[in-house]
This record gives sequence, C-alpha cells and structure tokens, in this order.
Amino acid sequence: MRCSVNASCHAFAGTIIHRQFTMPPLIQLNDIRKRYRLGPIDIEVLKGINLSIDDGELISIVGASGCGKTTLMNIVGLMDQATSGTYIIDNREVGKVRDRELSALRNRKIGFVFQGYHLLPRLNVIDNVGIPLIYRGVKAKEIRQRCREILQKVGMLDREHQKLNQLSGGQQQRVAIARAVVGRPTLILADEPTGALDADTGADIMRLFQQLNRDEGMTFLIISHDPKIAATCKRQIRMDDGVLYEDADPATLLAS
Ligand SMILES: Nc1ncnc2c1ncn2[C@@H]1O[C@H](COP(=O)(O)OP(=O)(O)OP(=O)(O)O)[C@@H](O)[C@H]1O
Ligand SMILES: [Mg+2]
Repeated sequence: MRCSVNASCHAFAGTIIHRQFTMPPLIQLNDIRKRYRLGPIDIEVLKGINLSIDDGELISIVGASGCGKTTLMNIVGLMDQATSGTYIIDNREVGKVRDRELSALRNRKIGFVFQGYHLLPRLNVIDNVGIPLIYRGVKAKEIRQRCREILQKVGMLDREHQKLNQLSGGQQQRVAIARAVVGRPTLILADEPTGALDADTGADIMRLFQQLNRDEGMTFLIISHDPKIAATCKRQIRMDDGVLYEDADPATLLAS
C-alpha cells in the first residue's frame, strides 16, 4: 500500500511510506533492519523500515526513548550501515558505492544535528560552524561571512569567538544547528534539535528550518519528543519499537 499525498494513511511494518511525486525520491529505504549482538543475545532494533522521502519535504519522527530513532538517523546519514535491506540516496544504492563516494555524498548533501552535538571543544564557535565549508574548499573570507550570517539567525553571533566550554547546553545546540545548515546541504538530519532549548528558542529554530525548507528547498528529517515541534512539520511519522507509522496529514484532517 502506498500513501498518496492527500490521503490520511496509517502505515505498518512492511508498508512503503511514500507520497506520490513525479521525481524519484531523494531517499528510499526498503526493508531496512539493524541488529546488534550483545553477548549471546541478538537484538533487532530496526524491524523492516520502508520509507521514501522526496526532495523538499519537512518531516518529523516521534517515538519513545530506545525505539530506534537515532539508529535510523545514523543509517540515513551514512554514519552506520544496516544489517540488511536496501538504501538508495540520490539515485545511488549505498551498499554498491565506494567509501570515498559515500564520504563525498555525506559532506556535500547531508547536514547533521547530532543528539550529543559532537562539536569540537578546542575550537571556538565560529570555527566549529565553518567545518563543513572547510571540507568543501570554500575560501576563508566567504566561510567567515556565511558563518556569521547563520550565527545571527540562531542568535549566537555575539558568542562567535567563545570556546565551547563557555557555553550552555542550549547555546551549544544552536552552534550545532548552525554547523548543520551553513553549507545549505540537500538534507538536514536533526536528532532532537530543540531538546535543550526553551519553548521560545525552540520555536525560533523551527521557524528557521521552515524558512530554509521553503526558500532554499532543503529537506528536513527531524526527530523530536515534543509533539508541538512535530506538529509544525508538514509530514509526521511515528516510530514504535523499530517500526514506522505514518500519521494523517494535518492539512487533510483540517480539510475533512
Ligand atoms: N551500538 C549499539 N550496540 C548495542 N545496542 C545498541 C547500540 N546502539 C543502540 N543500541 C540499542 O538500540 C536501541 C535503540 O537505540 P536508539 O539510540 O536508536 O534509540 P532512540 O530512539 O534514539 O532513543 P532516545 O529517544 O533515547 O534517543 C536501544 O535499545 C539501544 O540500547
Ligand atoms: Mg536518540
């Protein structure tokens, strides 16, 4: 069964969660499974994920702690590999592409907001934000200008020269967000991007994501525990014990 763009749809294990557009999807996951071996026990964390994401979507994933959200995000972001299943990103099947090409794909196309931020503590704010642009060979002057623009947007420009250990958790989270979006990647994967922020700052960050989605066509996959944050996304997916369920499109619900 496929979900059409206007239909409310409840998906279940083995269902392809997909909206019908004419372009091939940016991302296509087919029967993705992830198992971990813990001593004598084999645990299956992802239990057959089927998901299609089109260019320009803004999607939230909600789900209880431990249900597999970060595990899925790491696979989508090419940081980890599935135990089985196929994953196609940008028309390339991940299992059939060389490591070097995967690294290039990750650098060019994907921006991460990690759950634990993963910032470099020895660098100051602006140097952390500029890392993706350094990898792309952007000139120093342009790096500085683009970093300052995005730091302004996340409300951290006045802290540009501060060291990471002089920042609060929420401030570090905003630096991590700035680093993820500064290179305007095709796809942003944000794992609890507002988890350390107060409600107003969290809402500001969601407005920034919506603006980048609308004006620059960037695709967002956002994990959140906060139903209010999830509700601001055009498409909402739930995860439960390693399986995805697609919730009804809020626009459709309002119209019906
Ligand atoms: N490297 C690993 N080895 C073994 N088990 C792991 C590993 N990484 C994750 N797990 C297990 O996989 C399950 C899902 O973890 P994951 O981090 O994806 O959850 P989550 O949905 O992101 O949770 P949270 O909302 O708390 O961040 C957990 O039970 C976790 O213990
Ligand atoms: Mg997680």
